[in-house]
Amino acid sequence: MGLSKRSIKADFPIFNDSDLVYLDNASTTHKPQQVLDAILSMYTETNANVHRALYDIGSQATERFENSRKRIADFIRAPSEKEIIFTSGTTESINLLGRTLGNDLGPKDDILVSEMEHHANLVPWQMACDRTGANLKFIPINDKGELDLSEPDRYFTSSTKIISIAHVSNVLGTINPINDIAEMAKDVGAIFIVDGAQGVPHQAVNVQELGCDFYAFSGHKMLGPTGIGSLWGRMEILERMDPFMGGGEMIDTVSMNSSTWNEVPYKFEAGTPNFVQAVGLGAAIDYLESLGMDTIAKDEKEITDYALKKMSQIEGVRVFGAAKNRSGVISFNLTGVHAHDLAQFLNKDNIAIRVGHHCAQPLLSSLNESSVARLSIYVYNDKSDIDKFCRSLITVKNYF
Ligand code: ALA
Repeated sequence: MGLSKRSIKADFPIFNDSDLVYLDNASTTHKPQQVLDAILSMYTETNANVHRALYDIGSQATERFENSRKRIADFIRAPSEKEIIFTSGTTESINLLGRTLGNDLGPKDDILVSEMEHHANLVPWQMACDRTGANLKFIPINDKGELDLSEPDRYFTSSTKIISIAHVSNVLGTINPINDIAEMAKDVGAIFIVDGAQGVPHQAVNVQELGCDFYAFSGHKMLGPTGIGSLWGRMEILERMDPFMGGGEMIDTVSMNSSTWNEVPYKFEAGTPNFVQAVGLGAAIDYLESLGMDTIAKDEKEITDYALKKMSQIEGVRVFGAAKNRSGVISFNLTGVHAHDLAQFLNKDNIAIRVGHHCAQPLLSSLNESSVARLSIYVYNDKSDIDKFCRSLITVKNYF
């Protein structure tokens, strides 16, 4: 059974009585009523600080918050919910790792990323290298926009201590071979981190099968609220890591001059967590699972293939990235039309796409571009959205 787009769209208030064609889902996604209801009911029925309040609504808030942690653990098949750390999103998750694991490095150590990384999976590692003297190395990409893993010995060496790679490129749509990289990481004894911001919203993820050590993602790219995300990590590594931020909740005991740390995951959750948003993320996961992650992935592939085919029939459209294994992110340019002009023209038809460097300036430089247009597909998009987008694209082409 495929997805019923009509009933899915009806769940999203933003599409009610609107002809909005929203194709900027790699940036952020819209929220179904079920997620909005969960947020509202947290504020109106169980608003109290978690893990602290000794009264009914306090324990209810804590229970709902911790249930969300369990939902996330089940969703990504983590062995234990204790391995789920709530963060504000992928960026904070990777900064947490940069400030903890990254700080243990020295001038003889390498951090390995790739040329297709989002700034969130690049800048924290540049900062770690600046602090510690470690060296940043890059896996190159080939003409199709896939990782070039043909000479692994050049990048995976005994100096490689941390490898951090996107599950799915937010520009090229390439789905990277995480299992293969996990094997190479294991061979050299490196810690392997996956930036799953564009991965987990779009396909079933089983972190144990992927073979990575950490997996980071954001709630707002998977129908959940902003300001909440997660970092999954292997318990044995989390236990030996230092905390990231200091404050309430992350401590066990505090004296005037020193402190000891709470157990994992609380050791990494200083301050009042975004517990309302965490419950919203749990509701988003419920929603996605009710559709079925395999069904979502299959549907997205069908619409992506349809979009790629239709776009290839429009003269002057150049798509960036032709990976065999790809997701519903399509970056492109239209000859003779600046990407920003294109976005403005599409906006007149109420079609939302993103243009710019997509927080991946090094990748854009390697494509010899400073700005590209990008459409990105999610559960509420259907082929009629692609038809409208292509019609608009042809109008813009003809206008210029
Ligand atoms: N990372 C988001 C994007 O690619 C903001 O659009």
